[in-house]
Amino acid sequence: MSTAETVKNSQYFIDLEDQYGAHNYHPLPVVLDRGEGVFVWDVEGKKYYDFLSAYSAVNQGHSHPKIVDALVKQAQKLALTSRAFYNSKLGEYEQKITSLFGFDKVLPMNSGAEAVETAVKLARKWSYEIKGIAENSAKIIVCENNFHGRTTTIVSFSNDPDANQNYGPFTPGFIKIPYNDLSALEEALKQDAGHIAAFLVEPIQGEAGVYVPDENYLKKASELCKQYNVLFIADEVQTGIARTGKLIACHHENVQPDILILGKALSGGMYPVSAVLADDHIMNVIKPGQHGSTFGGNPVACAVAMAALDVVSEERLSERAEELGKMFRSEIDKLIEKTDLITKVRGKGLLNAILINDTPDSSTAWNICLKLKENGLLAKPTHGNIIRLAPPLVITEEQLMDCVSIIEKTISEFKR
Ligand SMILES: Cc1ncc(COP(=O)(O)O)c(C=O)c1O
Repeated sequence: MSTAETVKNSQYFIDLEDQYGAHNYHPLPVVLDRGEGVFVWDVEGKKYYDFLSAYSAVNQGHSHPKIVDALVKQAQKLALTSRAFYNSKLGEYEQKITSLFGFDKVLPMNSGAEAVETAVKLARKWSYEIKGIAENSAKIIVCENNFHGRTTTIVSFSNDPDANQNYGPFTPGFIKIPYNDLSALEEALKQDAGHIAAFLVEPIQGEAGVYVPDENYLKKASELCKQYNVLFIADEVQTGIARTGKLIACHHENVQPDILILGKALSGGMYPVSAVLADDHIMNVIKPGQHGSTFGGNPVACAVAMAALDVVSEERLSERAEELGKMFRSEIDKLIEKTDLITKVRGKGLLNAILINDTPDSSTAWNICLKLKENGLLAKPTHGNIIRLAPPLVITEEQLMDCVSIIEKTISEFKR
């Protein structure tokens, strides 16, 4: 068949990715071509509810007109200057994000992993220059089953063999403790407080399967950190920007982290924008030439992030996530009473997961996701038998109820 006659259907695009792209993902077999709000369409024109939201990046909904407008206008005017020069967007963005989240300063980066790397470097530098830890001996406490990104240093403290096998040698200086275990944290702090720079934690472990810690875990952990002069770093790349029903998940427990890491929905998924926020006594340890990124803080990123943050407040996305999340979990709880295929629903706001009644190495959750796809809803398993359900926060109550019906129908029809 000549190129002119090629039918550009889903299989055509799947085959192209298969042949020319690295096989570092295993996507659901759907080829998306268009998105608007809570919906996406495949190349054949079939419409789906998006219940992944690009791993919680598209909280504001696909192609939000206000964010698109900001992107287009700024791209037409000035896209990139590098930080060799000032630009007319960065300062206003910095002012906006710092006042919104309550910090003195922000350090702009692009991907979530880069922001985590930045936070690790910042905490180490602070620990040597302010806390007074002896050179090259600082340690950072992290949690088991964490997910903070894919760089060599970050996978050094992962305990997921897929994430780190054969990527060594690893970066030293990390202590792993169980998640949601305050005694383990206290013990680790007590044992070596003089060498510990920071505690890095996800307020809810998203990738691990939406593990919500006990109430007050974050509050007590942050108090312990204060007691031992250790920085409390919250990685809110996935939980941040209204997803869990508050602007950041730490706000559920009135915790203000020493260092806050944001990414994903900071741009509404329009553009890679991430940020590290901290007060002056921490951030000022980084001086000119000591950290940076060609694209970090570029005018397009700043314009997009300002629009994305405006959408969050103008459309009351936190409040919506809080209300609709409660409704969603109570509907799924009703479904659980009628089926033995789902054992549990857990989450906060609109970051939720259902646990499928099968082993983590079974294909049941994957097959359920294939059925959900057939019925017009896209979701993906995480860690085998857990399905994360995280729609864009602009979803309406009526749409959410429609999605509950799709899930119910899929589960009732499902044959193992
Ligand atoms: C908590 C958390 N931190 C960091 C990252 C990494 O972000 P990115 O994929 O943009 O590098 C993720 C991505 O899922 C995440 O969930």
